Amino acid sequence: MKPLKSDVRLDAILGVLDCESLCDIGADHGKLPALAVIRGAAKRAIAADISAPSLKKAEKLAAALGLSDKIETRLSDGFESIDFDEADVFVIAGMGGYNIISILGKKPPPRGKRLVLVPHRNAPELRAFLILNGYLITSDAAVLDGQRLYDIISAVAGSGAAQTGKIGADGGNIGEEELYLLFGKGNFDRKNDDFYIMLKKKAGEFDKILKTVYNIGCAKKKAAYDAALLLYRKRREYDDNGQNS
Ligand SMILES: C[S@@+](CC[C@H](N)C(=O)[O-])C[C@H]1O[C@@H](n2cnc3c(N)ncnc32)[C@H](O)[C@@H]1O
Repeated sequence: MKPLKSDVRLDAILGVLDCESLCDIGADHGKLPALAVIRGAAKRAIAADISAPSLKKAEKLAAALGLSDKIETRLSDGFESIDFDEADVFVIAGMGGYNIISILGKKPPPRGKRLVLVPHRNAPELRAFLILNGYLITSDAAVLDGQRLYDIISAVAGSGAAQTGKIGADGGNIGEEELYLLFGKGNFDRKNDDFYIMLKKKAGEFDKILKTVYNIGCAKKKAAYDAALLLYRKRREYDDNGQNS
């Protein structure tokens, strides 16, 4: 068999794993668990999926790579057939943010469990859910794969400061909070080149911000406006100071 190919998104996920045991929820073809074991990012893995045909693909791949003793496949709707003690890190990637929220809501991971979440849409809504439900977001930066940015969100269950109600208050540093909800904080902290390249390409970004903030209902009009202005300022800073200054 040819060596298993990765891509930018999978590489980014592998880069934040660093665990003994991985559980990939929605593993589909099973590439991530296989690459994780091959690269030493995990010693063993469970490839879980709600779809039996998907699991067959994962099973075949593991067998073809001689990894059947290290990769177990499991039919599971979200965490339903998973015991949280079975893995150190749980990945949910390649699904919409609302599906991920539903999986986390049905069987919440216990305090201290590490998660790597890679929503292919509705990342702001997922961030809002995490913050309001006591998760600590430990890293959150996007990677550019072709023409698409993928958010790679690492979080620890039960370790975040308690927050209730809506995110965003009437005063204070509200713009920044909204901005980090929409786009991962790590993109700004580390002046992520991928993120800024994409941001500059996107016309109408401010409109999108305003719309999204309203849609998730977590801010007042002024907060959305502040976030848009702040984003503009950060982009200008990036342009003026160059990359990773
Ligand atoms: C687009 S694939 C993503 C594959 C892989 N995780 C990746 O990111 O490349 C989405 C997979 O999630 C699975 N899935 C969707 N909802 C699920 C759920 N509630 N529990 C487990 N798997 C689910 C689907 O069957 C499908 O195989």
